[in-house]
Formats: sequence, structure tokens, C-alpha cells
Amino acid sequence: MVRRVAVLTSGGDAPGMNATIRAIIRAGIANNLQMYVIFEGYKGLVEDNIIPVDRTFVSEILMRGGTIIRSARLKEFKDEAVQDIAVANLKSHGIDALVVIGGDGTYRGAIALAKKGINVIGVPATIDNDVVGTDYTIGFDTALNTITDAVDKLRDTSSSHQRCTIIEVMGNSCGDLALFSGTACGVDLILSIEYRPTNEEIIAKLRHIHSNRARHALVIVSEKLIPNLQELADLIEDNTGFDTRIEVLGRIQRGGSPSASDRVLAARLGVHAINLLVDGQRNRCVGIVNDKITNTDINEAFEQKRKTNEGLIKVISTLK
Ligand code: F6P
Repeated sequence: MVRRVAVLTSGGDAPGMNATIRAIIRAGIANNLQMYVIFEGYKGLVEDNIIPVDRTFVSEILMRGGTIIRSARLKEFKDEAVQDIAVANLKSHGIDALVVIGGDGTYRGAIALAKKGINVIGVPATIDNDVVGTDYTIGFDTALNTITDAVDKLRDTSSSHQRCTIIEVMGNSCGDLALFSGTACGVDLILSIEYRPTNEEIIAKLRHIHSNRARHALVIVSEKLIPNLQELADLIEDNTGFDTRIEVLGRIQRGGSPSASDRVLAARLGVHAINLLVDGQRNRCVGIVNDKITNTDINEAFEQKRKTNEGLIKVISTLK
């Protein structure tokens, strides 16, 4: 039977991580579990930066961006000797289960610990929306709203100056932030891993806009897709007549107060994570699929490839 449960956040922070921590701690306490937090992700786990917490530890954090227990990326965690230190630290506190909040890198660390006998539960929180086993990750909706707001503002200046504005958004190797924000903002072109017009198509489209509307154009590009954005800007300038600017939105996408939707998702997934532990389940990751809260074996989920949102791609192709 599980009695002591620890929580950590790891990888890139995401809006809604605090709401998730709150839900997990409060659900744990409601089920008479002793709850712990680990500061700075796997780094804190290895350094034994672990404390027991009560209900008030998570007061007034629901609406705050970032993560109050901080995050880190620890490359060394792939070494078994480092993982063994983490396991020993958990055992020294008598901790029976670990809930990890983060993206695929976070799940990778959890799977390593599961192999060493630790009961782990994964809760998907990353702006990238790149985790298998869930339609949406905590933080994606807020980041999407941040991007939408930024693109709406860039539209004003792009239009005033009759420019083509290329906007790079995050997503790691997942194009969802580009595809969803491009649709939300009605941009002229979206370039992502899943939807990638050729250079000829890009030029033809922008030439058409330039000669017909002679106003401005907005292009959203997923990070890491095009090694040198300046080359794309030069290609556009040289072939379409558009004065072109590049805007990299960067880590502003990770900040801010979580949207209502992310807060609700955090509450639902956090409570489900604790319910699984109380039910005696092991090594699961939680998610929302077709608006139902669900869970999957964390190893199986990790082996699967995330499915492309074909429905949205069709919408984008129709509206292009
Ligand atoms: O995983 C979240 C994310 O923001 C990605 O979109 C991005 O590629 C990466 O983290 C950047 O990480 P860092 O802030 O550690 O450079």
C-alpha cells in the first residue's frame, strides 16, 4: 500500500505546473498520504532536495506561472549510477511512489526509475503537446493563447509596414503549437514537421498575396524545422517583393498565468494520478483522450509515436 508520495517537475516549465502540483498534493492529503516535494526535478532527487509538505504549501499557487518547486534538465540522469543515487534517496525517505510532471524527457527519467522498482506516475505538462497518451498536455492551451496574442500584435505592425513577418514558435519536434496558432490567427502560411509547403509553394503564395493585396503576410514556423530562418527570409525578399522580418517568440511562450482550460486539466489529471496510486496501480501515465481522463502504461506510451492531428491538417489545407 502506498503511504508516502513525492512530486517533481522536470524539463521545460509550463503554465499549469503549479496547478498540477496543488492538485496532486491536495488529492494525496485527502487520501491520507504523506506528500513530499522534490526541488529542481531529477537534479534535486539526486541531491536529496526533498521535503515533506502539508496543504498550505500549495496555497495561492494555482494561478501562478512557472513551477514553485523549480525545474532542471539533468543529462547525467541517463547514467545508472546516478539513477541508483535517486532510488536510494527515495528509499531513505520511505517514499513509495513518485509523480513526475513534465514532457517526454521527464517520462524517460521516470521509466529508468520504474526499471529499478520505483512506482512512477507521469503527468503530461509541457507547452509542446508532444506527449503520447494524451490529446493535450498541461500548458499547451496557455502557450497557444500567448502566441495568438503575440501574432495579433505582430499583425498590426506587419500590416502597417506592408511586410512579411516570419514568426518562430516552440514545440520541440512537435508542430502542434505552429498548427494550432496558425489556425487561430489565420496566418498565410504554416510550416511545421507535419505540414511543410515547398519553397516553390511558399514563393507562389506570397507572390500572389503581394501582387493582389499588396498588404502584408504572416508566416508561422516551428522551431528546429529550418536551420537558418534568415535564408527563408532572404528567399522571400528576393522572390516576392516583400520586406521581411523574423520574430522568434522564444521562452515568453512558457510564461504566464495558466488559462482556465489548463487549470481544469491540471486538476483533473492531478487527482487521477493520486487515484491510480490509491487503487494500487503502478507505472502509469495520465492523459485526456476524447475528453475522457485516462491512463496508459508509461513504458507502452513512451514506445508509441504521437499521432499527427490529421483533422486539423485537413482544415489548414482547405483554408490555405
Ligand atoms: O520542452 C519545452 C521547450 O520550451 C521546447 O519547446 C524548447 O525546444 C525547449 O523547451 C527549450 O528548452 P531550454 O529552455 O532548456 O533551452
